[in-house]
Amino acid sequence: MLSRKYQAITNKGFRQMTGSSPQILLIGASGQLGRAFLDLPDFPSTILTPTHGELDITRSENLDKYGKENPNIDLIINCAAATDVENLESDPTRADLYNRVGAKNLVEFSNRLKAPLIHFSTDYVFDGTKQTPYTENDATNPINIYGKSKCAGEEEILNHAEHAVIFRTSWLISHRGENFLTKIIKKARSGEALRIVTDQIGCPTSADDLACMVWAAMPEIKENKTVTLYHLCNRGQASWYDLAKFILEKSSQRIEPEAIQSNQFKTAATRPAYAVLDTEKFQKEFSVLPKTWKDAVTDILNK
Ligand SMILES: NC(=O)c1ccc[n+]([C@@H]2O[C@H](COP(=O)([O-])OP(=O)(O)OC[C@H]3O[C@@H](n4cnc5c(N)ncnc54)[C@H](OP(=O)(O)O)[C@@H]3O)[C@@H](O)[C@H]2O)c1
Repeated sequence: MLSRKYQAITNKGFRQMTGSSPQILLIGASGQLGRAFLDLPDFPSTILTPTHGELDITRSENLDKYGKENPNIDLIINCAAATDVENLESDPTRADLYNRVGAKNLVEFSNRLKAPLIHFSTDYVFDGTKQTPYTENDATNPINIYGKSKCAGEEEILNHAEHAVIFRTSWLISHRGENFLTKIIKKARSGEALRIVTDQIGCPTSADDLACMVWAAMPEIKENKTVTLYHLCNRGQASWYDLAKFILEKSSQRIEPEAIQSNQFKTAATRPAYAVLDTEKFQKEFSVLPKTWKDAVTDILNK
């Protein structure tokens, strides 16, 4: 269940939004975050949720046509992206097409329709060399192809959008589909040995909480016709190992994961060692306090 506080703000946001009967376009609705938006309590029924095949953000002519067919769209929530970090490492062209060109096309689409664009980016725009949480003012320096393409997508929006908000988030988990949490539980149930890295630190974030907090901020976002960037994730920090241990403990799995270092776990993409996001700016501007990641994990496991 969503926390009482988020729920209250969400309903307030919903009432204010429905006052003007918004026509929302949710792109990437079948993904982890898209599905979390769809599951928000009382999410408007006027929502458009084209599939990837019906609306491809990499094809501007596709967006043109869709805009002409749906001229009353007044809010675009983009959850679409290429997110397969490992495969993208050997396919920079696809990373650029989906994550930069896709964002560029959406900026043009949003400007033309005069509809604000809500977009998501990642902690992987940072190199991970800092030792305190990254703020929105810290310089980006991505160290893998996915991070570079997401960073380039941010720049398209920050430089050319008329009304847009980018939310940088991290380590999304939920009870749906394949993500770190569902994979850990599946492996534990099948008795598979777990080797988890201790030297990458980040902010585990519930996709449901993220959708809920973004939705809570929507009335103000619609009012403030600016282009802004926020960091938004659950509170606290953890290593992948801490997160795995907590998931296993809370789901009563008796398996003890083996703690390893990143150099013992070969991956194509290098990940930042420290990618904790500072969410102060969002908290202050919208008076929303994110749940701790432990509460978020507990909520997911109770679904
Ligand atoms: N997952 C994380 O841990 C994480 C962390 C930080 C930031 N983020 C960001 O959060 C956002 C949502 O991530 P997610 O994990 O929910 O992604 P996801 O589960 O991989 O879902 C991506 C969605 O986008 C759709 N899509 C992909 N390419 C598209 C295209 N060219 N045109 C239209 N739709 C397309 C996919 O549809 P098909 O499956 O049909 O292709 C799917 O519905 C992304 O911007 C991501 O970069 C994610």
